Amino acid sequence: MKAIVLAGGTGTRLKPLTTIMNKHMLPVYNYPMIHYAIEKIAEAGIHDVLLVTGRSSAGLFVDYLGNGREFGVSITYLIQEEAGGIAQALELAKPYVKDDEKFVMLLGDNLVEKSLRPYVEDYNRQNEGAMVLLKQVPDPERYGVPVFGKDGKIVYIAEKPAKPESYYCVTGVYMYDGSVFDIIASIEPSARGELEITDVNNAYAAAGKLTYRVLEGWWTDAGTFDSLHEAAAFMRRKQLSSRRGGKGS
Ligand code: G1P
Repeated sequence: MKAIVLAGGTGTRLKPLTTIMNKHMLPVYNYPMIHYAIEKIAEAGIHDVLLVTGRSSAGLFVDYLGNGREFGVSITYLIQEEAGGIAQALELAKPYVKDDEKFVMLLGDNLVEKSLRPYVEDYNRQNEGAMVLLKQVPDPERYGVPVFGKDGKIVYIAEKPAKPESYYCVTGVYMYDGSVFDIIASIEPSARGELEITDVNNAYAAAGKLTYRVLEGWWTDAGTFDSLHEAAAFMRRKQLSSRRGGKGS
């Protein structure tokens, strides 16, 4: 199984920090953000990583991560020339994924406390379709928000709805089978001109092939000043506590 890590984009919500620096290279306590994403992939038992990023910052990732050896993974780099949405970045990865190969896609600004391994193992047992990881948040309107049917299945995901129907959000950890590329080819750009990952997930949901798990432990996407600050504070507490022998949090 491969992992695709998206580390491009314009980081609009973090300007001016992102005026000269790729969001995923900003510090989260004592490491650049991308460090945590690659660690999570390695911890999940995945060895092959495809990292997608923009031309101007690709050198930074190569300098920092190299071929991935220090993390116990093997990294291939792919350049996204223009930011066109998460699904457009994923589409670029098509030549690197075999037809029937399942993979994990991780948004590089998503920081997760617990191991992703149990979810990856669950998805590997799933015959076909996609799996998303959900998390309860106080501000679901910032995210993709699932709408559940009577049977508890996701029937639809609303992207950044003004009136969210639940307190769950779709995190930036997605698991797909090879049919994702046919789905991407069939969707149209949204009003903001991007190929939306939520449209891809909704195609799976409409076919009854979207499953989910609720992510345990702490999680954030570090795409805003406050969430970046929170992420740094969490990582600081975690690392201080492990230095003290695992007590406290
Ligand atoms: C993206 C997705 C959204 C998801 C979020 C998770 O939003 O479009 O559905 O909830 O990632 O981080 P973005 O942060 O790119 O606006």
